[in-house]
Amino acid sequence: MKKILVATEKPFAKAAIDQIRPVVEEAGFELALLEKYTDKAELLEAVKDVSAMIVRSDKVTREVIEAAPELKIVVRAGAGYDNLDLAACTEKGIVAMNTPGQNSNAVAELALGMMVYLARNSYNGAAGTELRGKKLGIHAYGNVGHYVAKIAKGFGMEIFAFDPFVAKETIEADGITPVGSVEELYKTCHYISLHIPANEKTKQSINYELLSQMPKGAVLVNTARKEVIHEEEILKLMADRADFKYISDIAPANAAEFEANFAGRFFFTPKKMGAQTAEANVNAGVAAASQIVKFFQSGDETFRVNK
Ligand code: 3PG
Repeated sequence: MKKILVATEKPFAKAAIDQIRPVVEEAGFELALLEKYTDKAELLEAVKDVSAMIVRSDKVTREVIEAAPELKIVVRAGAGYDNLDLAACTEKGIVAMNTPGQNSNAVAELALGMMVYLARNSYNGAAGTELRGKKLGIHAYGNVGHYVAKIAKGFGMEIFAFDPFVAKETIEADGITPVGSVEELYKTCHYISLHIPANEKTKQSINYELLSQMPKGAVLVNTARKEVIHEEEILKLMADRADFKYISDIAPANAAEFEANFAGRFFFTPKKMGAQTAEANVNAGVAAASQIVKFFQSGDETFRVNK
């Protein structure tokens, strides 16, 4: 019987496992769980007889792939697949997939929630500011960007977006103003919400030069990846501009320096938690399990991300 492993250092909600299990078992596969593991050795041991894997931000490195001789498919239950070694998968003939869109609303709700939280001084009783009327720039208009725009409209924000891979008409159809360059977006907007993937082109691309162009009262909201931020330069900008604030879903490596110098001007989650809702866990987890079942039953490779 083929074994499907759910390997999640940050586990799914129980509700998600309860719904993944019947999808797997009713199709005649065995479900194995490796949750909250703290050591890579546990993962290497768990993958040795599995045909498929479902992961979250867990690192599926060449070493993991080589420890899994029967592995045919790995599905990242989520959007960003920078944690999968795609070249190693391709070399071994392993299909890699993601589950686009399944956890996007959860990430978008967190982005807006953190914006309100910081605008209201972490609810400390002091007078804060409102989101209404502020200009919001959505950097990359994919699934999460789309939901952020939808929710921000309810707050009465003026919304702009930059995405060279999305047609201007698609953005306009949502009532959002497309802009022609990344610089224009940053120059225009008080809030920037980041939704770019982490790859060789984007790593450390959100830097001093770009952020310093933002207007007074600027806030950067990062629910994408910490790797896209130039963490040293953002610290320098915080020092140079007392009006600048930074929100991130997961703390930067230099969080201690923020804590020591910039109290009240940043907010970091203790663990990446954009997709950490029961609903998103169910959506992404069940989608991943269904994609695996379809792949084994009919060779369906929709959502494959490696060639
Ligand atoms: C994603 O890329 O889907 C999100 O960043 C969620 O990541 P997580 O599954 O580790 O919470």
